[in-house]
Amino acid sequence: MVCEPPGPRSRDASRRLAAAEAPGINTLYRGLPALVWDEAAGVNVRDLDGNVYLDFSSGFGVAAVGHRHPRVVEAVTAQAGRLLHGLGDVAAHPSRIALAERLVALAPVDEGRVHFAVSGADAVEVALKTAVLATGRPGILVFDPSYHGVTLSALAATSRPAFREPFAAHLHAHVTRLPFATPIEKVRRALEDEAVAAILVEPVVGREGVIVPPPGWLAGLAEAGREAGTLLAVDEIFTGFGRTGATFAVDVDGVRPDLLCLGKALAGGMPLAAVVGRRAPMEAWATPGEALHTGTFLAHPPSCAAAHAVLDVVEEEGLAAAARRLGEQVSARLSAWPSDHATVREVRGRGLLWGVELKTAATAVAIAGRARRSGLLVLAGGAQGRVVQVVPPLTISEGLLDLGLDLLEAALG
Ligand SMILES: Cc1ncc(COP(=O)(O)O)c(C=O)c1O
Repeated sequence: MVCEPPGPRSRDASRRLAAAEAPGINTLYRGLPALVWDEAAGVNVRDLDGNVYLDFSSGFGVAAVGHRHPRVVEAVTAQAGRLLHGLGDVAAHPSRIALAERLVALAPVDEGRVHFAVSGADAVEVALKTAVLATGRPGILVFDPSYHGVTLSALAATSRPAFREPFAAHLHAHVTRLPFATPIEKVRRALEDEAVAAILVEPVVGREGVIVPPPGWLAGLAEAGREAGTLLAVDEIFTGFGRTGATFAVDVDGVRPDLLCLGKALAGGMPLAAVVGRRAPMEAWATPGEALHTGTFLAHPPSCAAAHAVLDVVEEEGLAAAARRLGEQVSARLSAWPSDHATVREVRGRGLLWGVELKTAATAVAIAGRARRSGLLVLAGGAQGRVVQVVPPLTISEGLLDLGLDLLEAALG
């Protein structure tokens, strides 16, 4: 660290941003000027003032292979030299075709078919629209807490009232909400309402507080959904591609969803998301006319090229196994914190997705601030704002992982 963050350049840039950008986005971080990222590589981010941080947010879970992985940069550069932009639903390109084949082969979905999307929330829209199209039913069953994005139909599923309430009049009305990890018998009863098209669930709750369901719960959901003719849509936007110590978090329970939402780490920092769905429901998209759901940047060529590089790295470097192994190191360290530190209420997680729940939201914010001043980037949040996330890149070394945990422990106060 060369100065206390945010330093003078970040403050100045932040002031300019505040004057030009809509308020309430990132101009202020809990009342502090934003950090302004200037450069990132691997597990490190450097701000405009020259401070170098260890990134335990992985940039919202995107940098599973690390920031600006050389193979991702090389793939994007090569693609940019050939074809920067495709024609979405009107013309395809080779990288997209190969990526669709690859995702179908990788995803735990029977006879998978891919629908690309631009953001995670867009993928959730695709999954929910698929369910409505394929079943002819209007409803969805979702869990509390959960985060599925903030476009209008994803927002209807997202649990946090502060996000939903200002738009309540515009949100999908047919939403049943149950506590995450509700006993399966109660889920069955909720599904007796035959209007439910899909169960939408995060296999491990991420942003809203890192909550791991009991073993077998996801399998129970899958079975209850099958019995009721309701599709199981699993949102692996945060958990996919090794984050929880398996390629997909559902692999642990041997669950094969009807619809699997992917995003974030998929393209290593380029915007890309997708739904891999079972062939039968996906066939509901077949229309004689124009595509019912598309976008100008659908299956953007450089993003598809980046995704190939990410999948290569995840596979060749065995990053799911690395997350599992490093997760044991995190677990061994964190499990003592509730008894060693009066501020800590609970620790939870799997692989390299962990949450440290503090006793109050104010403590969580203070800890994230202290960590930041010592050179560690962590996000504080969750449904009650009390959880500090530990989400390092899957490529992190044991030594740097320990260093980050040392900095976080020192910040606990
Ligand atoms: C589980 C989950 N689903 C969906 C989303 C929304 O993704 P995006 O921000 O790319 O729209 C997120 C983002 O944090 C997420 O964690």
